[in-house]
Amino acid sequence: MIRVAVNGIMGRMGRLIAEKVREEEDLELVAGFDVLEGEIAGIRVSSPAEYGRVLSTTPVDVIVDFSTPEASIKIAEIASERGIPLVIGTTGFSEDDLRKIQEFSGRIPVVLSPNFALGVNVFWHLIEEIEKYLGDWDKGIVEIHHRHKKDAPSGTAKKIAELSRASSVHSLRIGDVVGDHIVIYAGEGERIELIHRAQSRMAFVSGALRALRWVAGRSPGLYDMRDVLGL
Ligand SMILES: NC(=O)c1ccc[n+]([C@@H]2O[C@H](COP(=O)([O-])OP(=O)(O)OC[C@H]3O[C@@H](n4cnc5c(N)ncnc54)[C@H](O)[C@@H]3O)[C@@H](O)[C@H]2O)c1
Repeated sequence: MIRVAVNGIMGRMGRLIAEKVREEEDLELVAGFDVLEGEIAGIRVSSPAEYGRVLSTTPVDVIVDFSTPEASIKIAEIASERGIPLVIGTTGFSEDDLRKIQEFSGRIPVVLSPNFALGVNVFWHLIEEIEKYLGDWDKGIVEIHHRHKKDAPSGTAKKIAELSRASSVHSLRIGDVVGDHIVIYAGEGERIELIHRAQSRMAFVSGALRALRWVAGRSPGLYDMRDVLGL
């Protein structure tokens, strides 16, 4: 049985992960943290001020974090002090934040991915393949997300830009769009358009559960979903 704590448990992602963890036979939801009070999946939500007390009294095998960059760095520091493996789905980190996560991963295994969907991880792989042949074509990225998303461009689009060396990313924040990414490669008289559409957050939830099962018991280090999926 893998005992799981969720940071940001009252959020769109945190709630879904908590509910899914509760349904799985090999997983047990033992704690949840958020600045908002409440009860999710049978767990009373603890505040960030209670990290120390809760983690001292409740054994936790993996922490899953879908919160904010600031909250994520805090839980990563605490997880590294206590030797608890960590899965981070939060996006919008600064370079300095990423350096800190790298440092913490010297003591614990951390899976960090801006997108846990299986299809997106294969999509990144396809972009690397296209780059081998069409690296000199013009490239552009369009990403569309729901109006509540805080960071822009999305972590997924940043990763696409890194892999494709595309210089332009256009972000739209409209309605309840879960997440669309469109990559356009334009050559002389022809173009390729690659599109990934996340239709449900369950695509991220399934990947996050896969990551948490994988990270429990790993050696310290910074991993991503491609390590988890063996891509
Ligand atoms: N990696 C992926 O596959 C993936 C998928 C979806 C969303 N995300 C990212 O995950 C993050 C969360 O997304 P969301 O849509 O669930 O957002 P959300 O705003 O619905 O949820 C965030 C939660 O974090 C809580 N929070 C804020 N400060 C906190 C603190 N100090 N300590 C603990 N909890 C705190 C908020 O109260 C909220 O409940 C975002 O960065 C988003 O971009 C990643």
